[in-house]
Amino acid sequence: AATTTATTTAEIGVIGGSGFYSFLDDVTEITVETPYGAPSDSLFLGELAGRKVAFLPRHGREHRTPPHRINYRANLWALRSVGVRQVLGPCAVGGLHPEHGPGTLLVPDQLVDRTKSRAQTFFDGESLPDGSVPNVVHMTFADPYCPVGRSVALGSARGRGWEPVDGGTMVVIEGPRFSTRAESRWHAAQGWSVVGMTGHPEAVLARELGLCYTSMALVTDLDAGAEAGEGVSHEDVLRVFGENVDRMREVLFDVVGALPKTQDRDCLCTRAHEGWDLGIELP
Ligand code: ADE
Repeated sequence: AATTTATTTAEIGVIGGSGFYSFLDDVTEITVETPYGAPSDSLFLGELAGRKVAFLPRHGREHRTPPHRINYRANLWALRSVGVRQVLGPCAVGGLHPEHGPGTLLVPDQLVDRTKSRAQTFFDGESLPDGSVPNVVHMTFADPYCPVGRSVALGSARGRGWEPVDGGTMVVIEGPRFSTRAESRWHAAQGWSVVGMTGHPEAVLARELGLCYTSMALVTDLDAGAEAGEGVSHEDVLRVFGENVDRMREVLFDVVGALPKTQDRDCLCTRAHEGWDLGIELP
């Protein structure tokens, strides 16, 4: 048997549903406090595909935290504080066009924010517990996702026999309700591809911390505009997610193994802070 070494650091973070942490070897659970409060849950640290991974259940392990109440700042800060520099964000989404039906894996390249109430920056003028005050900082966010992470995700999905959709726009709604038909038709008419509730501000907070962030969106339903009948039900979302969770796990395993080493990262995400004096010390 492998010797067990207590792991307190990680290089790759996975923020996802509870279907994912069972597959880490030798899991070490650690609680992390941040200047922004507590993350959704403990971090579960372990080895996967020879890499040190931190898993964080986005809604808490019992799925008690709704999308609009998630402490996204604490989640990203906590991951960075244990050494994470690349984050994978698997999530369930609705498809806005019939060609992106349930079971589709889409790796978005664009994001539209339709949330309302969420803290979406670390640079909001409020001092940290250590007395430091963040400066006014405006991140470049034209391309919200890591191009390297995206191409690794697409390659890994294809390697497992999935034909993923390369690119598309994820519109993030406030939730927790699903969209009305009118909202859904409007989102589709804009040319947006999928709709979710958690992709923002996860992506922008990762960028503010100089982390790579890759969204992997599993379509669980056709949203209300594209769907005939009653509209989206939570049961449909859970069922389709359940049907695809094994395949998602396999793909994630391969993605983790194929991401660059921290010191080899050379993407726009690593240059997020160029030219900025942040005013605060990142963990
Ligand atoms: N997550 C899964 N399906 C969704 C939908 N139709 N709208 C928003 N978030 C979702």
